[in-house]
Amino acid sequence: MKCVCVLGSPRVNGNSEILAQTFLKTMESLGAETKVYALNKLKYRGCQACMACKKNLETCAVKDDLIEVLDAVREADVLVLASPVYYGDITAQTKGFVDRTYCYLAPDFMTIPNPSRLKPGKKLVFIQTQGHPDVTQFNDIYSKYSNFLKWYGFEESYLVRSTGVGDKGDVNKHPQILEEAKSVAHKICQK
Ligand SMILES: Cc1cc2nc3c(=O)[nH]c(=O)nc-3n(C[C@H](O)[C@H](O)[C@H](O)COP(=O)(O)O)c2cc1C
Repeated sequence: MKCVCVLGSPRVNGNSEILAQTFLKTMESLGAETKVYALNKLKYRGCQACMACKKNLETCAVKDDLIEVLDAVREADVLVLASPVYYGDITAQTKGFVDRTYCYLAPDFMTIPNPSRLKPGKKLVFIQTQGHPDVTQFNDIYSKYSNFLKWYGFEESYLVRSTGVGDKGDVNKHPQILEEAKSVAHKICQK
């Protein structure tokens, strides 16, 4: 099983990365192949709306560091998308990546039943960390992005979320959420 992780936080070894690495280590122990991309280390732009992927190309025409990430996700069985909440949403780094996944959609995506260019059966693990302790705050983020990804064929998705984690490493004070990350890996590998 191929698992690609996209880290959306600029903070190295921050809360979202700790959760992602906990998940990935468990996946590796269960035999999965893993690859991590830290978006903040890459040079890339958001979608340029050139529409090349809706005219003459099946891939993104913007040639920058994100091409390798987009290709890796195409080949992956599992995508881990890990982002802290910044101003009520995913980080700008993560959003830039999400916008570029527009190339996964066929030209007539608005009207056809299977608009995705990706092979079906992929799984999404969405990792969300936030400083605010109230779970009702920012609980729209996962449904919003998992729905877009469902459209691409990520039928099965899991949320691993930690609230009230403001400082770097705070997530380590919540062993139950680290256990949850491990348990999601077990669930995915059992199937
Ligand atoms: C620019 C910025 C904006 C933030 N906005 C929010 C927010 O809107 N709501 C919230 O609960 N936490 C917010 N936070 C806190 C982060 O979500 C929190 O510290 C998170 O655990 C960071 O994850 P990381 O360690 O993986 O980077 C913000 C932090 C920064 C730096």
